[in-house]
Amino acid sequence: MLEKKEKVLVVDDSPDTLEMLARKIASRGYEVYSAPDVSKALDTLGSIPIELVITDYKMPKHTGLELIRHIQSNLPHIKVIMLTGFPTIEGAVEAVKVGAEEYLTKPFTDDELFSAVDTAIRKLRQKKLSVKPAAQESNPYGIIGASKEIQKVFHSIRKSCSTNATVLVQGESGTGKELVARAIHYHSKRSKTPFVPVNCGAIPDSLLEAELFGFTKGSFTGAHETRAGYFLTADGGTIFLDEISETSLSMQVKLLRVLEDKQIYMIGTKKPRSVNVRVIAATNKDLQLLVKQGYFREDLYYRLNVLTINIPALRDRSEDIPALIYHFLNKFATENAKKIPEIADNALSALQSYQWQGNVRELENLIYRLVIMKDDQIIDLPDLPDYIRYSIKIQKDLNRSLEDVEREYIMDVVKHVGGNKSLAAKILKIDRKTLHAKMRPINKNEDTDAD
Ligand SMILES: Nc1ncnc2c1ncn2[C@@H]1O[C@H](COP(=O)(O)OP(=O)(O)OP(=O)(O)O)[C@@H](O)[C@H]1O
Ligand SMILES: [Mg+2]
Repeated sequence: MLEKKEKVLVVDDSPDTLEMLARKIASRGYEVYSAPDVSKALDTLGSIPIELVITDYKMPKHTGLELIRHIQSNLPHIKVIMLTGFPTIEGAVEAVKVGAEEYLTKPFTDDELFSAVDTAIRKLRQKKLSVKPAAQESNPYGIIGASKEIQKVFHSIRKSCSTNATVLVQGESGTGKELVARAIHYHSKRSKTPFVPVNCGAIPDSLLEAELFGFTKGSFTGAHETRAGYFLTADGGTIFLDEISETSLSMQVKLLRVLEDKQIYMIGTKKPRSVNVRVIAATNKDLQLLVKQGYFREDLYYRLNVLTINIPALRDRSEDIPALIYHFLNKFATENAKKIPEIADNALSALQSYQWQGNVRELENLIYRLVIMKDDQIIDLPDLPDYIRYSIKIQKDLNRSLEDVEREYIMDVVKHVGGNKSLAAKILKIDRKTLHAKMRPINKNEDTDAD
């Protein structure tokens, strides 16, 4: 196992007990140090990064309680287990009050000892992981990330929470658009009311109207009963219109009417019904371009786009990748009752330089697979799929002049056409004289024609 061993210090004035404890703890895979009294223990604590102290209570000169107090005020990250041969309730209360993790009364069984030690170590590991990447405390909406780009998103979410305005969330697939929409809803005044997501792209246009606005009994073949649509279900709350770009132009007219009049018409009735619904729409397409191309109504676009949140692609905020990895490792290990795997530095940097076309969702799925596959180990470079291992960015040489780059391209074209310069000139849309001139610096002696 490549895992780093935790360092445990055992303190007891009885040499036999000390030796026995050290042997047992070492058998659990920990690195063990021992000290026969408090002052020797303090020496060890001063020179070795101990993580857990197991100390006897009654010792000559200084007691275990004094040692715990010292640790509490000077080395508070260290966990302590107190041992004693004289069980008193007061002693236990006192030990726990000053910060002992656990209190064991001699004689104790191996199981009791191991369970106390393992619990303390597990707590230490959890704490370590939760403080590892800087981003952990900066995710007010359950959205992981601390980059400048994601901070901007947080800022827009904050603004959106305090109003009822329509929001358009834009971003590539898997960037977290739905996560952002939910964050807005659950941090707005409507948080106690329904959040109703509708994937407009997954519902055929012929059904979308019935799904959104509902229908009355008998209004069309198959309408056996009156049914409320998503807008009525979301009354008082928020409707999330996902993949809004996939709606037809005629559907867009109907949506525009709801946004303008705050009224819906159920299929089969001419009577409008008022609804109080906040709309958050999302798209992974360039809506403005679709407007220009005539696929999306401009008036609806402006109605939706009161507040816009653009979520950048993961590759454009790669500094968020480590925090996301730790978040997902934690999440999936906990869900599957597994130990949280560690990740080797080179694996981490390969993951950080990969382009993540599927954004956070792709990263999430990969981490899930790794957690399931790996047991209590370190995730290393060979564990990653080839397409990620070999994706480490090729550094572009950014010191070349335009002239050099042009010459290289020209030479490639000439080579491609077998040295036929007339043809090369034609491809490059320059005349042969210019071609000769541009080739000259590296091909100075060249004045005979190959064609
Ligand atoms: N910053 C983040 N922190 C934590 N989890 C995230 C983050 N961004 C996305 N995710 C997770 O990634 C997955 C994809 O997110 P989401 O469904 O919100 O993306 P989307 O933009 O709506 O994707 P699509 O366009 O494919 O519908 C979800 O499981 C979500 O919880
Ligand atoms: Mg989505």
